Amino acid sequence: PLVSSTPMLQAARAGGYCIGAFNVHTLEMLQAVVEAAVETESPLIIQSTVGTVKHLGPEYIAAAATVASNLNPRIPIALHLDHCTEFDLIVRCIRAGYTSVMIDASHSPFDDNVAQTKRVVEVAKPAGVNVEAELGKVGGVEDDIVVADNEALMADPDECAAFVELTGVPTLAPAIGTAHGIYKGEPKIDFDRIGRIASKVDVPLVLHGGSGIPEEQVRRCVALGMAKMNVATELRIVFSDAIKAVFAQNPDENDPRKYMVPAKKALKEAAIEKMRLCGSFGKA
Ligand code: 13P
Ligand code: ZN
Ligand code: NA
Repeated sequence: PLVSSTPMLQAARAGGYCIGAFNVHTLEMLQAVVEAAVETESPLIIQSTVGTVKHLGPEYIAAAATVASNLNPRIPIALHLDHCTEFDLIVRCIRAGYTSVMIDASHSPFDDNVAQTKRVVEVAKPAGVNVEAELGKVGGVEDDIVVADNEALMADPDECAAFVELTGVPTLAPAIGTAHGIYKGEPKIDFDRIGRIASKVDVPLVLHGGSGIPEEQVRRCVALGMAKMNVATELRIVFSDAIKAVFAQNPDENDPRKYMVPAKKALKEAAIEKMRLCGSFGKA
């Protein structure tokens, strides 16, 4: 069965490593990241954005993820709802079998973010479901959440401490300079800020915007307390590029069982590389 992501993230934070959390949009993508976790004996967080949940239906996604976890009982697998702003959808996903949810009220004032997060913690905790909240604003584009560079806002370490205290939220995503999507140039990560937040907050921290962060910088983030890394854009690109390559070779190809094969393989390899960076090999 699927497990809550709280224990695996606490173990990662305590052990100085990180868990890869991969956004998937199709059954083949889900299978590819599961195969990567099985091959490397890594704990795994499969995640879907609100857009994907609305596209496929949370029940279908949860059913597929549950089958994956049942077929691979030695690998801890959690299913997470990414960047959700709607309480009702969070409840529906928990009912469908999600074992982790993000309430993203980062666009609201602090007190409102606290209230919305607290409400989600109150329904999730009794269900054994992990909760993630965001402080500050992660830049870039994720589904229909768009944050311009000049609107991105770093999380304040004292506010992070107060927020965790007030909400009881078990995992926190503080904005520290990364952004969704591929960076123009390099991200401007405030490592000092990560360190200050980690010294005030003992819950596992979540690194958003994982695509395009140089390897060395990911390692520094993990060493400072980032216990979960979200990766979406790079995986979509790898998967789609492999499909495009098939059609470039053979424009008449019409068998999904054929054109999906290289895409699945490429995605699996990309996920394994992220797991290597995270240091999660053998931690299952
Ligand atoms: P990227 O698209 O930059 O990998 O960000 C993923 C993310 O943070 C999902 O929540
Ligand atoms: Zn994100
Ligand atoms: Na990114």
